[in-house]
Amino acid sequence: MVRVILIGYMGAGKTTVGKALAAALGLVFYDLDWYITMRYRKSVSEIFAERGEEGFRDLERRMLHEVAEFENVVISCGGGTPCFYDNMEYMNTLADTIYLKAEPDVLAMHLKMGKGKRPLIEGKTPEELEEYIQKSLLEREQYYTKAKYTIDISLLDTFTKIDECVRIIREMVKI
Ligand code: S3P
Repeated sequence: MVRVILIGYMGAGKTTVGKALAAALGLVFYDLDWYITMRYRKSVSEIFAERGEEGFRDLERRMLHEVAEFENVVISCGGGTPCFYDNMEYMNTLADTIYLKAEPDVLAMHLKMGKGKRPLIEGKTPEELEEYIQKSLLEREQYYTKAKYTIDISLLDTFTKIDECVRIIREMVKI
């Protein structure tokens, strides 16, 4: 049975790499944010607006407990998922957890390239965004580094780079 959970900061490439990894392994892919959106029929931004961050984190934890029980899956979780409650320990007991580690400038580039709305960084100027990433990444690394595996991610702007990343993960986790 294979169960892989990708963790890392917003814009690290969890969804991009997760989809490619699942396709390469012939497994089903789940993105925790999408799962939440599907179950609640609301976007993450709407849930933040209605319930605040605390409400979102509670719901995120409950949805994690559903998804992380599935078998033969690749799951990408939200950037904040490992940093609340005992989520990181919980994921480690059930899955091969992989931290997609990227430098702040790579994260900022991916976030600027991406189309998804993210309530925590909405409306920030490029300078504010870089400052926010630097500060919160520093706080979050203590959780991310609890993952069983870490892979360094550079700018994922070509399919070749995404494939290379998938190859490294498969070699590292032996899947
Ligand atoms: C968050 C990351 C988002 C989403 C929410 C909060 C965070 O997921 O869960 O906006 O706290 O870092 P992505 O990492 O997929 O953008």
